[in-house]
Amino acid sequence: MERNLGMDLVRATEAAALRSGRWMGRGDKISADQAAVDAMRFALDGVPMNGVVVIGEGEKDEAPMLYVGEQVGAGDGPEVDIAVDPVEGTTLLAEGMPGAIAVIAIAERGALHNWQGIAYMDKLAVGERARGVIDINAPVSYNVRAVARTLNKQIEDVTVVVLDRPRHTDLIRQIRETGARIKLILHGDVSAGIMTAIENAPADILMGIGGAPEAVITAAALKCMGGEMQCKIWARNEEERNMMTELNLDERQVYTVNDLAKGENIYVAATGITTGEFLSGTEYFGGGARTHSVVMRSRSGTIRYIDATHRWDKLMRISNMPYGD
Ligand code: FBP
Repeated sequence: MERNLGMDLVRATEAAALRSGRWMGRGDKISADQAAVDAMRFALDGVPMNGVVVIGEGEKDEAPMLYVGEQVGAGDGPEVDIAVDPVEGTTLLAEGMPGAIAVIAIAERGALHNWQGIAYMDKLAVGERARGVIDINAPVSYNVRAVARTLNKQIEDVTVVVLDRPRHTDLIRQIRETGARIKLILHGDVSAGIMTAIENAPADILMGIGGAPEAVITAAALKCMGGEMQCKIWARNEEERNMMTELNLDERQVYTVNDLAKGENIYVAATGITTGEFLSGTEYFGGGARTHSVVMRSRSGTIRYIDATHRWDKLMRISNMPYGD
């Protein structure tokens, strides 16, 4: 993987954002997601890689495109695993709310953890400056204090991001008891996890239970950015607990960034669909649109922000993708 595939991948997240952004606020999650999947799948065909989807839209029988196991890419490049989330925050997009993004992570074949059948994970994520001080098995107050100390902040100035869910009632109470600030989000814990690691981070810690596939994508990004994440599988009910036993999985096992995203040459590309704190959303103008993206590579540690202007007439000339009306 010597060529910088990140620049190719960002075209795929841009395409997903351009197409799905049109569904903002229209209350139709399925069409919004489908538009992103179609565009991302089409664009990935042009990426010089031999990719296999390890995190995608589900099994082959429920997802015609970007299903787990699907081969993607032009086929003439390195063998890679690919994790896609064409719309991370489908409800945010369908309801016209901030923070929906299109995101892709790739790594060497076999490097990205494949969470077939596991829906949720308990997550604790921080940026580079707080790496090494957190412990998911320790009390909430321990982690908040440790992060405050290492960031040289008062506890009252530490911001913890948590998905706003009934399952987090006790977690939120415990964070409040420490005196830290809480940013409750409706969806999108990939962006929230990444936000802990960006410069002038609007959040210091991500805590709580969210999607397992999203944990792998967040881990890939944090690996590029030098952040840290610790996760544990979280079973919703007895049935899932039994399934975990059958799969020989242990709820007590702690997974780190390197367990979830093992590779040494990881790329992550993300494009904003609706404007959020992490990325601005797609802006449409007569005859085209502007996108705002980020591309990261673990090997070099480079993080590039890319603003692009797209003109429908020109895009249509170079691809069969129907971008414009
Ligand atoms: P979707 O884009 O698939 O709707 O996921 C959004 C999301 O909020 C993730 O960011 C998060 O990890 C997960 O859903 C949380 O799941 P739930 O909404 O079931 O609590």
